[in-house]
Amino acid sequence: MRIDIITVLPDLLEGPLNHSIINRARKKGLAEIVIHNLRDYTTDAYKSVDDYTYGGGAGMVMTIEPIFRIFEQLKSERNYNEIIYTSPDGESFNQSVANKLSTLQNLIILCGHYKGVDQRVRDFLITREISIGDYVLSGGELAAGVITDAVVRLLPGVLSDETSALTDSFQDKILAPPVYTRPADFKGWKVPDILLSGNTKEIENWRHEQALERTRKLRPDLLKT
Ligand code: ADE
Repeated sequence: MRIDIITVLPDLLEGPLNHSIINRARKKGLAEIVIHNLRDYTTDAYKSVDDYTYGGGAGMVMTIEPIFRIFEQLKSERNYNEIIYTSPDGESFNQSVANKLSTLQNLIILCGHYKGVDQRVRDFLITREISIGDYVLSGGELAAGVITDAVVRLLPGVLSDETSALTDSFQDKILAPPVYTRPADFKGWKVPDILLSGNTKEIENWRHEQALERTRKLRPDLLKT
């Protein structure tokens, strides 16, 4: 899978996407993540990629020209399944959206900035708008990082234990069960006996019960769907 991320702050994304699982996926060639600086696509002498709002009002707006230019260049090189714009007013990002995106070949993510992007970008160039939650970030970079991380870790071969993505919270639309590691007894706080029993079937049932119990307690809304 290839993800092209377009941003005015490339440094903000290099860090988070260069560590741990995602970095390993990149090194193994399972995910190609290319971060583009939008300023490289402007013809403006000052490398500016924003301008005043028509009609007046506070805040700058991302202009269409450099965005159109980079989209045209990328689209001339390969076909893209989705061109995503990160924005607080997009569809809500969740595990189900992550699963669907992880089946695609090529994605572009345009990080929103300033007061937002010229509406014509959204009307004519973007295929999907995604929000990572009902709050406003200073820019779409962290949102693009969240989306990329959640999607890339689902790609086959990225996680060392193939099944471990399947037992994540939300993957079955319920939360994950509690997990424990050594020591079995810490200051009298004990690991449940069942996990030390070696009885795989019983352990599996226990985990499922615990997952349901945790979901009922913490996220009852998930069980309604
Ligand atoms: N840009 C600013 N806030 C955002 C959010 N909540 N989700 C996605 N992009 C954003």
